Amino acid sequence: VATWSLDPGSIHLNHGSFGATPVEVISEQDRFRRELESNPVSFMLETYQPALENARSAVAAFVHGAAEGLVFVPNATFGVNSVCRSLEPRIAPGAEMIVTNHGYNACNNAVSVSAERARARIVTVDVPFPLQNEREIIDPVLDAVNDRTALVVLDHVTSPTGIVFPIGALVAQLEPDVPVLIDGAHAPGMVEVDLEALGASFYTANCHKWMCAPKGSGFLHVAERHRDWMSAAVISHGHNGGWPGSSSEFHARFDWIGTDDPSARLSIGSALEVMAEHHPEGWSGIMASNHDLVLAGRTILARAIGANLPAPDSMVGAIAALSLPPSRQESHHIFDPLMENLRSNWRIEVPVFAWPDAARRLIRVSAQQYNKVADYEQLAEALVAELAL
Ligand SMILES: Cc1ncc(COP(=O)(O)O)c(C=O)c1O
Repeated sequence: VATWSLDPGSIHLNHGSFGATPVEVISEQDRFRRELESNPVSFMLETYQPALENARSAVAAFVHGAAEGLVFVPNATFGVNSVCRSLEPRIAPGAEMIVTNHGYNACNNAVSVSAERARARIVTVDVPFPLQNEREIIDPVLDAVNDRTALVVLDHVTSPTGIVFPIGALVAQLEPDVPVLIDGAHAPGMVEVDLEALGASFYTANCHKWMCAPKGSGFLHVAERHRDWMSAAVISHGHNGGWPGSSSEFHARFDWIGTDDPSARLSIGSALEVMAEHHPEGWSGIMASNHDLVLAGRTILARAIGANLPAPDSMVGAIAALSLPPSRQESHHIFDPLMENLRSNWRIEVPVFAWPDAARRLIRVSAQQYNKVADYEQLAEALVAELAL
C-alpha cells in the first residue's frame, strides 16, 4: 500500500500539475542517490546503464511500446522540444504545423519557435469547450490537415480542460502519411496507453504525474522510421557514438544528456510496482476508481456553483474542468488569482486557469488514491463563499 507524504493539513485536488510520489518510491530513489554518492564514477559508468535498461523495460511494458523506441527525458516539455528541434531541418518553408487551442502553453510555444525557425506556419485548431462528443475534436483537426502539414500535435489528456482526446481515431486517419506527436503528459497511469496499437510517430509523457514516479522522469517513444534522425533537445556524447553502453545510437543520444541526478528515472519501476500493489485490482483498479471519484467530485462542484458539465463522462479521465463565472480581476499569466485565495483561505490546492482568454476561467479538479468525496464537498463550500454565490 502506498504511503503519501502529502501535508494532511491541505486538501490536494491538483495531482495533475506535479503528481505526488509515495514514500516507498522516494526511499528507493534515496537508495539510488546514496549508492551514487558512495562512488559517483562507478555508479555513472557501470551501474547507471543497466539500471536505466530495467526502467526502460518497465515503462515500455506499461505503455505497450517498443523498448528500442523508448528513451527517457526529464519531462514532457523536453520530449516535445526534442521532436520539434529534430524536425526543424526536415520541414520545408511554407509547411504547416498543427496544434490545438486546448494544447499546453509551454509545448505550443516549443512548436511555434520551431515553426519560426523552419519558416513554417502554425495552424491552431479551435476545439470547442464545452463539447458533447468526439466528432467535435476529430472533425476540426482533420479539416485543418492538408498536403502542407508537416506535424500534428495533439494532447492525449488536455491540461486546462481535462479532456481525453480521441487520439486513436485521429492517429488512424493521419499516420503514416502525416506525422503525429502526442503530448501524453497526463496519460500513463490515468488512462490505458497502448503505443503499439496507437502507431503514432512520436509519443511523449511524464512518469512524475499519474505514474507517481519522482519528479524529473518522463519518456519519448519514437516510431522506428524516425529513430535515425531523432535527437534530444540537448546534444551530448551520444551524437557521435561517444556514450558507452547504450544499445543503439538512438538510445545513446538520450541516455546521457550531461551530468544530472538520474535517480528519478531509475525509480520509475518502483513507482509502477508500489502503485500496482496499492489497489486490489492493480493499475486498472487505480484508473477506474480515480475516474469514478473525479466524476463524483465534478458533479458535487457543478451542483454547488450551478455549472453545466462541459463534457460527457466518457471523455474524462481523472482530471475534470468546470467553467467558473468570469473573474473581476484579469489574470496576467496562466493561473487565475482565485487559485491563491483557495490555497491561503481554505488550504485547498486546485488549479484555476485563465482559459481560453484572460477574462474567463476554469477550475480543474483531480482524483488520486489519497482523495475522498469530502475533499470535493469542502471545495464546493469554499467556492460558494469565494464566488459569493
Ligand atoms: C498536456 C501537458 N503537456 C506538457 C506538460 C508539461 O509537463 P512538464 O512540466 O513535466 O514538462 C503538462 C503539464 O501539466 C501538460 O499538462
